[in-house]
Amino acid sequence: MDLYPYFRPLLMAMEPEQAHRLVLGALKAGFGPSNCSHDESLKSTLWSREFKNPLGLAAGFDKDAEAIAPLLALGFGFVEIGTVTPLPQPGNDRPRLFRDRKNESVINRLGFPGKGLEFFARNIDSFRQRAAPVSGVLGVNIGINKGTLSPIDDYRLCLGRLEPLADYITINVSSPNTAGLRDLQARKELDQLLSGLTSTKPLLLKIAPDLNLAQSVDIAELALQHRIGGLVISNTTLMRPAELAPHLKNEKGGLSGRLLKNLSTELIRDFYQMTGGTIPIIGVGGVSSAEDAYEKIKAGASLVQLYTALIYQGPSLITRILEGLTDLLQRDGLRHMSQAVGVETGTGKVQAKAVV
Ligand SMILES: Cc1cc2nc3c(=O)[nH]c(=O)nc-3n(C[C@H](O)[C@H](O)[C@H](O)COP(=O)(O)O)c2cc1C
Repeated sequence: MDLYPYFRPLLMAMEPEQAHRLVLGALKAGFGPSNCSHDESLKSTLWSREFKNPLGLAAGFDKDAEAIAPLLALGFGFVEIGTVTPLPQPGNDRPRLFRDRKNESVINRLGFPGKGLEFFARNIDSFRQRAAPVSGVLGVNIGINKGTLSPIDDYRLCLGRLEPLADYITINVSSPNTAGLRDLQARKELDQLLSGLTSTKPLLLKIAPDLNLAQSVDIAELALQHRIGGLVISNTTLMRPAELAPHLKNEKGGLSGRLLKNLSTELIRDFYQMTGGTIPIIGVGGVSSAEDAYEKIKAGASLVQLYTALIYQGPSLITRILEGLTDLLQRDGLRHMSQAVGVETGTGKVQAKAVV
């Protein structure tokens, strides 16, 4: 039974960050529901890992890797934890998280608060050593400390410690709330960064939706040249669409949720075309229904993530999206999700392999 509608008014009345802590605490204490989807048409293999379905939890929800098992049990095919930084840090001053309920959107300027790499790694260790393993793929999102003198050393530290524990690793160069971070997306900086980072696990790059065409072309070229494992498209936006609630127009930070949806989908389409469909894309930004997820898949995403819609719709959304996706595939006469990846772009390279 879906209890979220009963708790939602209480959570919405709370300060957003407190509400988040409460939800995370409830999940850790075992109060989360257990869902699973076994539809064959949604299973795929990517990076030699089997995904039971293409829907994942985006980075930022579980920054300290505290609730991996309960989050996977909600029915996600994969969970991306982090962003983690080498050292613990408090993040920006509060308030730093704001809801736009009408638009099911959020502005955040958290600034990577977290307990640091060691705490994070130990939590993954405990998850890996559980007596009752939970199925699902684990992505780890890595970042840098505020004011670090050497970003690349921060990434290297995180990578070295977490590589053995993660199924894939996302290099976050796109959060808008750490000064200088997005500058690492520029050609020269990104080239240096990607040359300096090597891993035995797939390395993914998470990019911002606020790139101009020249920046996007540079990133696509470097992604191909460095043979990166995948692209996560996208992080939050600095744009302020006209529909945004007026009281939030002047809040600094990254916007996520419905108001980000089209911007991120367009960028997915661009990158799928620019890379000829050869680099797997995780599509993220404003997914709040099966139709939204399907749109991103047709634009070129092999997998999809969400975060903000979970705040407004609760965990039953996961099953709704997965069942809805199966129906949409059937409606279009497709046997497997992989047949839909990028169809809309005409590029036509199938990414995720069906599990047969
Ligand atoms: C409160 C909050 C915190 C976030 N923290 C991170 C983070 O630490 N690292 C990251 O890569 N993305 C972070 N994100 C961005 C999400 O992972 C995602 O890219 C973005 O919110 C778009 O998806 P959505 O519209 O489904 O929320 C955060 C988003 C929110 C709302």
